[in-house]
Amino acid sequence: MILIVDFGSQYNQLIARRVREGRVFCQIEPPDIDIDYIKNLNPEGIILSGGPAGIYEKDSPKIDPAILDLGIPVLGICYGMQFMVHALGGEVKKALKREYGFAKLKIRQQADLFKGVGSETDCWMSHGDSIVKLPSGFKTTAATDNTEIAAAVHSEKNLYGLQFHPEVHHTPKGKLMLGNFLFDVCKCKHSWTMKSFAKESIAQIKATVKDKKVILGLSGGVDSSVTALLIHKAIGKNLTCIFVDNGLLRKDEALKLKKTLKLHLAINIRFVNAKNKFLKSLSGVIDPEKKRKIIGKVFMDVFEAEAKKIKGAEYLAQGTLYPDIIESQSAFGGPTSVIKSHHNVGGLPKNMKLKLVEPLKYLFKDEVRLLGKALKLDEYLIWRQPFPGPGLGIRIIGEITPKRLFILREVDDILLEEIKNGGYYKKLWQSFAVLLPLKSVGVMGDQRTYENIVAIRAVSSKDAMTADWAKLPHKLLGKISNRIINEVAGVNRVVYDISSKPPSTIEWE
Ligand code: XMP
Repeated sequence: MILIVDFGSQYNQLIARRVREGRVFCQIEPPDIDIDYIKNLNPEGIILSGGPAGIYEKDSPKIDPAILDLGIPVLGICYGMQFMVHALGGEVKKALKREYGFAKLKIRQQADLFKGVGSETDCWMSHGDSIVKLPSGFKTTAATDNTEIAAAVHSEKNLYGLQFHPEVHHTPKGKLMLGNFLFDVCKCKHSWTMKSFAKESIAQIKATVKDKKVILGLSGGVDSSVTALLIHKAIGKNLTCIFVDNGLLRKDEALKLKKTLKLHLAINIRFVNAKNKFLKSLSGVIDPEKKRKIIGKVFMDVFEAEAKKIKGAEYLAQGTLYPDIIESQSAFGGPTSVIKSHHNVGGLPKNMKLKLVEPLKYLFKDEVRLLGKALKLDEYLIWRQPFPGPGLGIRIIGEITPKRLFILREVDDILLEEIKNGGYYKKLWQSFAVLLPLKSVGVMGDQRTYENIVAIRAVSSKDAMTADWAKLPHKLLGKISNRIINEVAGVNRVVYDISSKPPSTIEWE
């Protein structure tokens, strides 16, 4: 495995991806981790990431320099390189000319990281400080017009530094350079697969949880289903899942999920029907934030009441993914950390003294799907598009009533059927319908109608942080609109949402 030390670069996720694309496992940790923890991890190599700070700033992030003496190869990228140089007695200064964007990299030594790269290649720079003096034992291996020391190496100690970013697309040979580090220098094998991840993860859960009980909120989404399966494989009956039907699910969703989950996950699941509680609390509420808060609170009340029935539970499992951690800026910990609020769960109560188990916290969504596949999870669960916790509650603009829920469910069902038939379901990040609080005039069979408007939202995205509206074929959109207006009483107009995120968001509320 490769340890990535996070100095705050916006590209950290990309470094992690590049490493895993080479089928090498990696883990991202903050700089204040203990040297013994690192020794325990026993990584084949360490990558020090870039970061926005200047090395001489008072609070600039630093890691124990002892990592440079562990005999483990280290690659410092941008700030990571500057940290290494500074820690070993070199000198870093504000650059005369800051360097952002493309630069021509002139390679002096086509060996080590630059094996097979050629004598010149493009690289992507993003730095305000430059190295002016290398520590003893280092030599310069590449330069650009602006940066004399753009790459350096200490061959005996296996310490490498790149002032530019090999992890971004704009450094076309960056993947090759990282590959040289992983496979030539660190001697990593292309052996990491989701199967091996599953095996390690199951062993780790066993070692952490031992004979204690674990509770998991199961939503039927791919993240919580994969989490359930992993933990179930580790501790069997000591895992209890709680599925809350909040009355805001899609058509037949609760039923379908019940069947699939029971059939394919031979797991302890408690199904709680809390539809009335949710709908009663939401009655008359229009404000989106109020809706979210109410849904979050009722969920926690219901979940907690159910969880209390499970005597002796010590752990709460969550299907938190790596981008969730980045987004909510929660601290990384060891395999478990004391509970804290998380945007996925809408804020967990502070007095719930359960410890967290988050086996997916270093994975991206597409990797979770691969993991689900490796665990032989049902395809229906693996490929489900994300569905927000507050469900249709935030897709009915205005008041949530049983009648409006019924209309939206019918519309949404037709939409998904057509999206699936058209072969778009897996290609899209999400596709769904929104019921607007507006009516419009129409004409049906010579009769005037005055009915609801629904909006269709379909987006492509990698991680929901940004999203583009999907350019669905007009023919498909036409068919969706036709079917909805013909088949769902109470709707006489369909519009298509052509906004991207940012500046819009994916959900309407
Ligand atoms: P937005 O609307 O912020 O959504 O662009 C980004 C992604 O998050 C999902 N989403 C939620 N998921 N609880 C969830 O579990 C929520 O409260 C929630 N709100 C939005 C949304 O569907 C999209 O995939």
